[in-house]
Amino acid sequence: MKPLLQIIIAAAGLTAFTLSTEKDFLSSNTSYAHQQLNHMLTETATRDSLAFPRTMDSAGRMTTTSMYDWTPGFFPGSLWYSYEQTKDPAIYQQAIRWTEKLEPLKDFTQHHDLGFMMYCSYGNAYRITGNKAYRDILIQGARSLSTRYNPVTGSIKSWNAFKSWHGEQKYFYPVIIDNLMNLELLFFAAKETGDTSFRHVAVSHALQAMKNQIRPDYSSYHVVCYDTLTGKVLARETAQGYADNSTWSRGQAWGIYGFTMIYRETKDPRFLKTATGMADWFLNNKNLPADKVPYWDFNAMQKGYTPGVRSYANKVTTKYRDVSAAAIVASALFELSDYVAPAKGAQYRKTAISMLHTLAGPAYRAPEGQNGNFMLMHSVGSIPHHTEIDVPLVYADYYFMEALQRYQSSL
Ligand code: GLY
Repeated sequence: MKPLLQIIIAAAGLTAFTLSTEKDFLSSNTSYAHQQLNHMLTETATRDSLAFPRTMDSAGRMTTTSMYDWTPGFFPGSLWYSYEQTKDPAIYQQAIRWTEKLEPLKDFTQHHDLGFMMYCSYGNAYRITGNKAYRDILIQGARSLSTRYNPVTGSIKSWNAFKSWHGEQKYFYPVIIDNLMNLELLFFAAKETGDTSFRHVAVSHALQAMKNQIRPDYSSYHVVCYDTLTGKVLARETAQGYADNSTWSRGQAWGIYGFTMIYRETKDPRFLKTATGMADWFLNNKNLPADKVPYWDFNAMQKGYTPGVRSYANKVTTKYRDVSAAAIVASALFELSDYVAPAKGAQYRKTAISMLHTLAGPAYRAPEGQNGNFMLMHSVGSIPHHTEIDVPLVYADYYFMEALQRYQSSL
């Protein structure tokens, strides 16, 4: 190999791999993803046309949700990535079909997840097709999401109510760390319309999350509950993590990805510092397994961490992995690597590539036609709720595909 090429490949974080083996890796994974998605499309044809793939039941069959759950955007989003990767016109038609089913969501205001629901579907659709009708639907979706903002709390309300795992206490202005992901829709609407109020809402929410949701060591709380009269924090608890003071792995992943995206949109160095702080906390954590696929919570079953009395986490003795968190982090690191100093960027990129290889290996990637036709195995939806434990999840596949796409575009 010529020295210059060696230097370029090393800087790109490819020291252990050659460009041609990486191209083969990408092409075999994108072709695998295309096949799994086609199997899933065949299965969806046997179901209600408004049933959106989510996970798998104990018999190995795909299970679905309605479009009003938080995950309907991920299947159309994966179809868009597959179209980008294969240019298959049949996948293009299916991506349009599955995206357009979600049009009613543009007026939905009952929870905060509109960013996930619309930006992964219509956002990719608009990016790839340039169809102005999709842009207008996204902007209306951003208006609907903005209705959940309150200037007193400076935040978007995630759920209408949250019941503590400790007893009967209910909170009526809960904000969860996942909500950072929904801000991308608002940044998009601000740029498209010139209406700065969308950006104001997004930045205010991000600053409040940075202040109240992230601990000084850059680990994170899952749920922060606000008082709407004073704007003060009433409680910091968990909904899907092990304990209030623990760090739920997917929550940390949403934070890494979310603050990276917020830095991209604002160029405010405080957000970059938070994104790198959270990434370093995740990657350097002594509780992160060697293959960098985290346990579902960094502090599960550890001394000093106690689940609420009603939480199913009290009954679980297995330290399940959460592959979805690893897929989100791998995708985020590809982007974050572009925003930091070259040496640190090369390290993030190398980590992202090696995580992607791990996810695509036999321990986590299902054989074709199995796993309910989802790609990745071993994710966790919510142990406290006793749901979706050690299963495939549609969003793990989406961020896996996004990471493949980010890697492919960067070669
Ligand atoms: N946004 C919900 C979750 O990550 O499970």
